[in-house]
Amino acid sequence: MKKISAAITGVHGFVPKDVLTNEDLSKIVDTSDDWILSRTGIKERRIMKDGASSDMAMEAVNALLRKKNIDPLEIELVIVGTVTPDYPFPSTANVLCDKTGMKNAWGFDLNAACSGFLFALSTGSQFIETGKYKKVLVVGVDKMTSIVDYQDRTTCVIFGDGAGVVLLEPNEEGLGLQDFILRSDGSGRQFLIQPAGGSAMPPSHETVDDRMHYVKQEGKQVYKFAVTNMAEVSAEIMEKNKLTSDDVAWLVPHQANLRIIDATANRMGLPSEKVMINIQKYGNTTAGTLPLCLWDYENQLKKGDNIILSAFGGGFTWGAVYIKWAYNS
Ligand code: UT7
Repeated sequence: MKKISAAITGVHGFVPKDVLTNEDLSKIVDTSDDWILSRTGIKERRIMKDGASSDMAMEAVNALLRKKNIDPLEIELVIVGTVTPDYPFPSTANVLCDKTGMKNAWGFDLNAACSGFLFALSTGSQFIETGKYKKVLVVGVDKMTSIVDYQDRTTCVIFGDGAGVVLLEPNEEGLGLQDFILRSDGSGRQFLIQPAGGSAMPPSHETVDDRMHYVKQEGKQVYKFAVTNMAEVSAEIMEKNKLTSDDVAWLVPHQANLRIIDATANRMGLPSEKVMINIQKYGNTTAGTLPLCLWDYENQLKKGDNIILSAFGGGFTWGAVYIKWAYNS
């Protein structure tokens, strides 16, 4: 019997229509288009005024199922990478299945911050590789504007809202997920954290007054870890799979900072034409960045392309995934 691998056979995304430009932000906090653009590469981001993470995910999922002509009842498992679930419980995956009519699917949320999509993709693939399931959806979605402090110029300029989804199906031609390296190190948790709202610091008047339900980031510290670890793990997965820079068709990097993306591409020896970038228009959508990149670049991808996805995020969490693209658009 041929080995079964988990291939991405479709991708779609959703971003809200409302745009928040650097210019707009400079009217809210003490910042400028020049500072944001030169430090991060971001020009604007999308913000969701009404609705929850599941609503963005629903738009992406509905569009993907329509595009692939798949009945929602065929989906067996849904994994949602997110740090902005609709509720602490029930899971966003549960809500999403209800809103989209995926009544035969079970699902769960996976919290690995900006590495959420990579962790979810690797997890979902296992259910395909064992032969257990034929159709698994992996979603990356975050409504970062629901946890960003618009009085904190060091974080509010970075983040945006968005969702992406991929369909995983079995492949017997050796395409799809080839390898993954995933890491986490909880000793870095204080550098990027939403301190209140969980069991460590339950909600109270004080936590609200102290603005503890918002994202807190020590940017410099996170930058230092991100720039080293994202580059290293991306190079490591190439070496482990004996890939040269010529063999790699695309790098799909987490979109947190253009300087981190450049450092990763340099470490891998990749020219900028092989690097997916959409940070300028969406900012950092946390778990949404990687599937949104795949969606934006889908038309340029060819069957057999070697693609490395890599990310770094709160936790700390980080990793790289090596896939062989499975279809021509
Ligand atoms: O996605 C999850 C992982 N997250 C990341 O990968 C983010 C990693 N970190 C970063 O990308 C960068 O650290 C930031 C973009 C967040 C910040 O850039 P930086 O070059 O590290 O700036 P900084 O925090 O060292 O701040 C430099 C200066 C400071 O002023 P002083 O102390 O030099 O007078 C800040 O107060 O820039 C100031 N500053 C700003 N000025 C204008 C900080 N934020 C702003 C702002 N506008 N929005």
